[in-house]
Formats: sequence, structure tokens, C-alpha cells
Amino acid sequence: MTRHGGNIHNASKMTGMPLNEIMDFSASINPLGVPKTAVAAIKKAISLLPHYPEPLADSLASCIARHYGVSAESVICGNGSTELIYLIPRVLKPKRVLVTAPTFSEYERACKSNQPSVVSCQLLKAENNFDINADAFIGYMKGCNLAFLCNPNNPTGRLLKKKDVLKIAAAAQELGCYLVVDEAFMDFCPDETVIKHVSRNPYLIVLRSMTKFYALAGLRIGFGVFQPKLAQMVKMQKEPWTVNCIADAVGRTVLDDRAYQAKSLGMICREKQYLEAGFDRLSIKYIPSSANYYLIWMDNAQRVIRSLSKKGILLRDCSNFDGLSETYLRIAVRSRTENRILLKELSELCRAS
Ligand SMILES: Cc1ncc(COP(=O)(O)O)c(C=O)c1O
Repeated sequence: MTRHGGNIHNASKMTGMPLNEIMDFSASINPLGVPKTAVAAIKKAISLLPHYPEPLADSLASCIARHYGVSAESVICGNGSTELIYLIPRVLKPKRVLVTAPTFSEYERACKSNQPSVVSCQLLKAENNFDINADAFIGYMKGCNLAFLCNPNNPTGRLLKKKDVLKIAAAAQELGCYLVVDEAFMDFCPDETVIKHVSRNPYLIVLRSMTKFYALAGLRIGFGVFQPKLAQMVKMQKEPWTVNCIADAVGRTVLDDRAYQAKSLGMICREKQYLEAGFDRLSIKYIPSSANYYLIWMDNAQRVIRSLSKKGILLRDCSNFDGLSETYLRIAVRSRTENRILLKELSELCRAS
């Protein structure tokens, strides 16, 4: 099992603290929490529990399609986008896969179970804020049948502009290489999505997660947008009923929750300014982020992680990301109260070092 952020259950066992007293900066989840509209939808959907859900969550797929202006046949819903990250290589059976470093570890893990050779390319460099260079990416894509591009990237928060993603997608089509653009955190910078471009490029696949922006990590909802013929092929090999009827009902509801969406964007923007000002004050180095988390580095990162975890404050140790050392940490943007506590704790640890 790879190590991820968000293992609050483990932290609770280790510290003896109840889950609701732990401050989890290790998982990048919207601090506003589950939308009220979702809670109402959950209560209503309980009566559906004796029944099987729709095998391929077609009604949810139609809502998603309408919301994003894509065709319903092109959308495949999953038990979180993780299900699709694993399904895609299983269906496409690529011989050679491109994965950048550092990035989300599940791409490589999903591919390894199908045993292609995985080209993990260290094309992201600290001195360039770990930015992806489109031409370098295209160069590495040659000879590959599948490539993963995480945008904004986890754990750096760096966004590759739409025009560069489209340049890579056009090259992917020319090279006959499927390009999966994982937009799990794109809700935080929605203008940069390439979701509508899938219909024009049969090699482009866009994945989205609803677990981060809508704080539904425990419910599990994600989806992929594929060219319809490819979607058909993927659906043939997909397990049925992976989106349960509660997730289905909630997914359909939150897409229309404009108030929650606007409030979330406003709050995350304010809290990012607050955290950045705090990092600057403490001379903590961070990478400017387009998402709801920051990659920061501190010489005493491991000590910081250990001492804060004893207090029930979880940070994401990034030392197991390919390409990052043990000085790197990822910090999610939380509520003002939590962010204030975090900065205070960091300031004490900075002073003590
Ligand atoms: C970049 C990225 N993609 C996908 C996922 C998986 O998200 P989901 O909860 O939708 O399975 C994560 C989870 O952390 C992630 O960071």
C-alpha cells in the first residue's frame, strides 16, 4: 500500500484522539465540509438502499455531462477517480507509460499491476517550481502508449496552462499515445479545464474527482470524460454498481449547489492569502499553488511532522514522492481557525530550530 495523506484513522489510533479533534492538513479536502444540500440528499436517498444503484450511474453521468457541456455518452462515473485511474490501463493495456515525478503515486501503481514499462521522468525541477515544460513532456511521450498529466499537479499545486495542455494533447494524438489529464483539483481554477476538448481528440481523457472540492472523500465520487467510442470500450470492462445510490444522489445534487461552490472558492482564496502571508513572515519556502494545498520545504520537516502529529495536527510527509527529499511537506488550506493554529505551531518550531 502506498502512503497517502488523509490517514486520519491511523492518526486517531496512534494518538488516542477522536477523529473530530484531529486537524488534517495532510489531505486536501474543502474545509467547508460536506455541503448541506448533500446531507439532505443523503437522508432522502436512504430509502433507495434496498435497491441496486444504476449499473453505470447513467443519470449521474447525464447530470455531469450537462454541467460541463459534454455528451452523456462520453462520461463514465467511478468510485472516486481512483477507480478510473486503475481501469484505464487495464483496458488500454499500454506497453510503455509516461508518468512525471513528483506526482500522484497511484498512476504508477495502477500501471504496474498491468506490467508495462513505466517511464517515470524527472522533468519537473525544484528550481523551476516543478513546472512541466510542454515540449519536454512531448519529447518523453514518444514511444509511449499512455501518459498521465496531473493538472494542477499533486503535490506541487502547479498549473499547466490550457494552451500547453492542448499542445501536449495534440502531440499525443499525433503520436498515438493516450493522454490522461487528471483534473482532480481543477475546481479551484475552473477556467483552465480541457474537458470540452475531449470530443475533438480521441486520445485525450480527462479525469475529475468530486471528493476534494465537495469534501466527499468518504463517499467516493469521480468521473472520466472519454471520446464516446473509447468510453464504450471502457464501459464494457468496468465493474457494475461502483457508484452507490447515496453517492449517485449526492453527486447529482452538489453539481447544482452554486452557493457552496462560490463560498468555497471565496474562502479558499482568502485562506491562501492568509497562509502565504504567514509563510512569508516565518521565511518558510513554498511553491505558489493553483490548488488548495502548498508544497513547502523546511530543513527540519521530519521533526515538524513528528511533533505536530503528537498534537493531532497532520501534515503530508512528501519524502515518499518520487523526486522529493525528506525536507518537503504538503499542507492543505484549512479554515482560518486551523490555519492560525498551524502557523502558530510552525512559528514555535521555526524559533526552536
Ligand atoms: C491528483 C489526484 N488524483 C486523483 C485522486 C483520487 O481522488 P478520488 O478521491 O476521486 O479517488 C487524488 C487523491 O488524492 C489525487 O491527489
